[in-house]
Amino acid sequence: MHTDSLNVVYFDKDTSFDCLYPRRIQNLSGMHWTPLEIAKKSSEYLSAPNSKVLDIGSGVGKFCITAGFFEPETLFYGVEQRRDLFNLAESVKNTLDLPNVKFIHNNITALDFELFDSFYFFNSFYENIKPDLGIDNKIETNAELYSYYTNYVYQQLDQRPSGTRLVTYHGSVKQIPKSYKLVDNTHHYALKMWMRE
Ligand SMILES: C[S@@+](CC[C@H](N)C(=O)[O-])C[C@H]1O[C@@H](n2cnc3c(N)ncnc32)[C@H](O)[C@@H]1O
Repeated sequence: MHTDSLNVVYFDKDTSFDCLYPRRIQNLSGMHWTPLEIAKKSSEYLSAPNSKVLDIGSGVGKFCITAGFFEPETLFYGVEQRRDLFNLAESVKNTLDLPNVKFIHNNITALDFELFDSFYFFNSFYENIKPDLGIDNKIETNAELYSYYTNYVYQQLDQRPSGTRLVTYHGSVKQIPKSYKLVDNTHHYALKMWMRE
């Protein structure tokens, strides 16, 4: 952790962190952004010195920024399809000065998972089957996209080597390849830690 940092005040509770964003984004936090406690526990499991962690659908960057703050020796990458959320993630990352956090504006299907060592996945494709619970109406959502994205992530994860770590927060176990073994299941079965066999 960056213990000497004045920024520690933002990581004591979720409302403190969420204040870094506009009101509209704060209001989405309970449903769409990873709570600090979950990000901290997940990043402890995913981290190793100089390793690269990918957040699959990084939103406004709450997972990557929290993880990057508490695990300064690990590199956290977030890929986000919505330009405005990507811009906010960049802005807060720069405010907090976290050189081990990087954001990419793109669709997940543009990324080769071979570039990363471990993965975090917070049910990012759910808005395609429940659009009423989505972030906004700015992107196309439909059941075909849910299958397409889910299948892409499934195939990419399945191709990773033995020992690859994955954390899922909410979502269905059907999205995870059988080659991954469940090693921890907490927070009312919402937070799952997996390892590729
Ligand atoms: C539930 S939010 C989680 C945000 C972040 N991981 C966190 O925990 O704070 C899921 C995010 O995934 C993004 N997303 C959904 N489908 C995507 C895709 N195909 N490519 C890139 N981003 C995607 C959404 O725009 C949304 O911001």
